[in-house]
Amino acid sequence: MNKTRARRNRSTGTSKPIKLGWVSRSPEETRAYGERIGRLLTGGEWLALEGKLGAGKTQFIQGLARGLEITDRPVTSPTFVFVHEFRGRRPFAHVDLFRIEREEDLLDLGILEYLDSPWVVAIEWADKAGRFLPAERLTIRLTHLSETSRTIEIEAAGARAKKILDDLKRKN
Ligand SMILES: Nc1ncnc2c1ncn2[C@@H]1O[C@H](COP(=O)(O)OP(=O)(O)O)[C@@H](O)[C@H]1O
Ligand SMILES: [Mg+2]
Repeated sequence: MNKTRARRNRSTGTSKPIKLGWVSRSPEETRAYGERIGRLLTGGEWLALEGKLGAGKTQFIQGLARGLEITDRPVTSPTFVFVHEFRGRRPFAHVDLFRIEREEDLLDLGILEYLDSPWVVAIEWADKAGRFLPAERLTIRLTHLSETSRTIEIEAAGARAKKILDDLKRKN
């Protein structure tokens, strides 16, 4: 195996997920972290956001949309519809599963049609979608530390997601 190949396998091998952790001290800081990831997206990525109500999932996704250069309208939680679609540097679907009752409901929403497409898909309450989400994704977990601070943990599974996390780590 040549050197380049060895290096690539070490950084993006599919075996173990890789992780990165941040602490955010304000909503703007959470959006800025989202934007840093958004800038690295090239289309086809799935981002699964987990965390309680008020953890900052929507804030993070607003930053992500900034990184995707979405300017057509503001990003708000799709409360009554489950999916909002946006046009930016890449097509972007913002999904909120807060109101789904069963994992199977996800199939009726047509979200899986975004698989193998250029769409970037970010899903709030992704833990509700469980086994229906693609394994290759970025999982972002937000937790309250205090009223104004949150931990943001990012886990990458699959070569694409790992490459993004590697790039982030390099720029950290
Ligand atoms: N560090 C922080 N990061 C993100 N949101 C924060 C932070 N500190 C306070 N907040 C507040 O927490 C709330 C997060 O709301 P939102 O992003 O809608 O959460 P979720 O989508 O997870 O329910 C907002 O009112 C925001 O102003
Ligand atoms: Mg939300």
